Amino acid sequence: MKDIIEWLKQNANLKIIDEPLDVELEIPHIAYIEVKKPNSRPLLFTKPINRAKKIEYTMPVLMNIFANKQVTQKIFNKAPDAIATQIEELLKMKPPANFMGKVTLASKLFNLKNIFPKKLKHRGEAQEVIIPKAKVDLDTLPILKTWSEDGGAFITMGQVYTSSLDGTMQNLGMYRLQQHSKTTLGMHWQIHKDASSFFDQYREAGKMMPVSVAIGGDPLYIWCGQAPLPYGIFELLLYGLIRNRNAQLVKSITNEIYIPRDVDIVIEGFVDPNKMKIEGPFGDHTGYYTLKEPYPVMEVETITMRKNPIFQATVVGKPPLEDKYMGWATERIFLPLLKTTAPELIDYYMPENGVFHNLILAKMKTRYKGHAKQFMHAFWGVGQMSFVKHAIFVGEDAPLLEDHHAITRYILNRLRVENILITQGIIDALDHSSNETLVGGKLGIDATHEPLNEKDPHYVGLDDMILLAKMRVLDGSIVALKQYMTDTFNPITVIAVEKKSSQKELIAKLQPLSHSIKILVIVDAHTNLVENDYMLVWRVANNIDASRDIYFHPFIAIDATNKSEVDGFYREWPKDTLCDKDTLDRLQAKGLIDINEAFINRFGLL
Ligand SMILES: Cc1cc2nc3c(=O)[nH]c(=O)nc-3n(C[C@H](O)[C@H](O)[C@H](O)COP(=O)(O)O)c2cc1C
Repeated sequence: MKDIIEWLKQNANLKIIDEPLDVELEIPHIAYIEVKKPNSRPLLFTKPINRAKKIEYTMPVLMNIFANKQVTQKIFNKAPDAIATQIEELLKMKPPANFMGKVTLASKLFNLKNIFPKKLKHRGEAQEVIIPKAKVDLDTLPILKTWSEDGGAFITMGQVYTSSLDGTMQNLGMYRLQQHSKTTLGMHWQIHKDASSFFDQYREAGKMMPVSVAIGGDPLYIWCGQAPLPYGIFELLLYGLIRNRNAQLVKSITNEIYIPRDVDIVIEGFVDPNKMKIEGPFGDHTGYYTLKEPYPVMEVETITMRKNPIFQATVVGKPPLEDKYMGWATERIFLPLLKTTAPELIDYYMPENGVFHNLILAKMKTRYKGHAKQFMHAFWGVGQMSFVKHAIFVGEDAPLLEDHHAITRYILNRLRVENILITQGIIDALDHSSNETLVGGKLGIDATHEPLNEKDPHYVGLDDMILLAKMRVLDGSIVALKQYMTDTFNPITVIAVEKKSSQKELIAKLQPLSHSIKILVIVDAHTNLVENDYMLVWRVANNIDASRDIYFHPFIAIDATNKSEVDGFYREWPKDTLCDKDTLDRLQAKGLIDINEAFINRFGLL
């Protein structure tokens, strides 16, 4: 991994783009589109510019490093499942029964010495160039502005290194940073995250908090930064375990934080616990803008870098994106750790269009009544898994969780109202659907039971056109309809509406059709296509708060429309992240992207 570009050329079909391109919208839009394609490639932009600020940057921008599963696996140098097995073996380590057992155990323990990061006494390659405070200018870095309505430019692949007030704990977290000025950055560590917890310690003590933000180096650092390790465990231990080689750290120049010697750029500075500034909006990985909110500010003391640094960045927005592949590896590697809390868990899957924390499917062996419900509560109570909004548990006889069609059939053929649990808990700071921030509805479905054995004798299936026509007689706001999974016991009817009032009223009006509807899903017509099941899952999982938006009479109904005062919702409802049409047209005309109407609709680009 010494020369990342060479490595990406040989292992990942790196695409090099020499055309001068703007860090505002152009570069991010190309990366956004590339990673949605099958066999997408990492991209190196050699001539980033900023037309508005009249800047030609001296360093290239590298994007989509985790472009697909194959590259991701190569970055790890082994299959994520193999790492999971390694972790499982460590967790289950037993005293050896015989001589060979002792030898195996000794070699495993010997290898463990490689997990601990090593603190070096000398400087690192990341410190070849040192820019003193007086000359710090964040405008020299090709920081991207991804979306038209972003509040500015954001560092999106920053490895944020912090330590606890007493210095006993170190943390690496990946948090975005908004460029506020030439010398200050907005520090977007959300309240549930480890660095935010350290920040509280500094605030209580009234002390400035040192922070070093690294960019680049071994891409595994980036993955480790987003890995949801428990509080107090330094993510670079996981780096050592995976690489079987200690992370080599050097001290920052102006503070006591240690950072990897071989990253490309390090931004060192302090966060003043008394200073907050509005951060955002930012088009986030939910596919929505996160709204403006006050976040801490980092004052930059110095920037250090390699002689020829590379600036790494990612784009977040509507799925699928690079975080799909990072998330896939995380999901695999964390299975054994999850099993320590839920031993009968066989597997789990967080589909990318559920943006990870909005939907989880889990396969388990049930041993007693209420077992699946017990696991729901366990999930909702453990670390970052507690952000999960919708959890569906299936039995050990269920098909592959990634087989979307088969698993949906399995669930719908077992869905009974009495096995649905709706409760409340903490939710991701990015969630926009609940009436207040940070807490909201949770939906758990226990589909571990036997299938339903007979169809509802009162159910009368109707064609889409006929059902739509009958519905429109009852309520003219319904403009489109598509039924899914009509060969199961619980077909899903998706309707698109031109919403003017609470959907409670609409659901009540549809009572006369209750014999032809089992599960009704309502979405807004202006932002959804009822034929696009991929984006519908994304929309519904994002847009609902289960404790407010799920109804059980006269049928199961899910109101996935945008909410407003008519729903008793008084927060601001965020916009979708949409591409800039002029930018897309310009890039298409230059042959830098190649997309058509179907692609635009499939991924909700405009
Ligand atoms: C592309 C990407 C961007 C992210 N941006 C943020 C962010 O701005 N703020 C945040 O709190 N978490 C963000 N995360 C999630 C954190 O990296 C993740 O929750 C991580 O486990 C936090 O580490 P910690 O538990 O040590 O705080 C991001 C993850 C990815 C993959």
